[in-house]
Amino acid sequence: MTLVTTKKILKDAQRNDYAVGHFNTSNLEITKAIVEAASEMNSPVIVAASKGAIKYAGIKQIAEIVKTAAKKTKIPVALHLDHSPDIDLIADCIKYGWTSVMIDASHFSFVKNTRLTKLAVQLAHRRKIPVEAELGRLEGKEGWVKGKEIFTDPEKAKVFARLTGCDSLAVSIGTSHGAYKFKGTPRLDIKRLKEINEQVRIPLVLHGASSVPQKLVVEANKYNAKLKGMIGVPNSQIRQAIRNGICKVNTDTDIRIAFDLGIRKSLKQHPENIDYRKYLASGMAEVKKLVKSKIRLFKSENAV
Ligand code: G3H
Ligand code: 13P
Ligand code: ZN
Repeated sequence: MTLVTTKKILKDAQRNDYAVGHFNTSNLEITKAIVEAASEMNSPVIVAASKGAIKYAGIKQIAEIVKTAAKKTKIPVALHLDHSPDIDLIADCIKYGWTSVMIDASHFSFVKNTRLTKLAVQLAHRRKIPVEAELGRLEGKEGWVKGKEIFTDPEKAKVFARLTGCDSLAVSIGTSHGAYKFKGTPRLDIKRLKEINEQVRIPLVLHGASSVPQKLVVEANKYNAKLKGMIGVPNSQIRQAIRNGICKVNTDTDIRIAFDLGIRKSLKQHPENIDYRKYLASGMAEVKKLVKSKIRLFKSENAV
């Protein structure tokens, strides 16, 4: 079917205590693997493309790839703009058919974040497109400064949601982007999440939620990868987060690990092969397995 917005997908998840997977893509192969996996699991799915993905693939090309994959299935598929730092990009994406956008002004002050988010909401809502915003900062690529308060404040979250009119809110409770999330034991601030969930009615979003499956990492290293010291969010803590208000779980890093593993495996097992479709198919098969395992974890299987 045609792409749907994230509005109903996330409200249904909120009402029924499960979460919908947000999976990042930059190309045909990852998109097909995500949508096929979700389709086989009868689960709604959010396919996301970042500014970097758009730069890599082209704004029209990536939109067409996702639209075409969605048309071949009966499950609800949304195309979401991930972490947009600017309003012009949001406007362009809406023009090319994105059905959900994120304004990420979380690195600015509360006042500036509120002002920019409000502008993005006004623009997107004119086209009936829902907006995800972020309050608090994730350690890593979001300009985190050591010693500064980075976790989301529940009271501020309530005010932010009311002032901006955003449709969903990304929170900072201890996750970070990429494969190196924790120095010691992984721990999310579930108490804080609970408090945010009591203050904010809109669906909450968990970024930086990859679990960095050690089985895949060990296997990739067998096929010549050199991956060391990677730590993700344990599945048990993702489950706890979903029980406490998280309705959308963002995964990019685990997809990269799975795709990379599949390609490495195929190249090692068939060093004579130069048909790229064969090793890309092996990468896609690993991504499909991964996405299915996430859908089981998020409990969105058969939710459509
Ligand atoms: O949170 C952002 C995603 O991991 C996208 O990463 O900017 O490299 O496309 P990217
Ligand atoms: P990971 O790096 O943990 O996969 O997070 C992805 C993400 O938050 C995309 O917005
Ligand atoms: Zn993110």
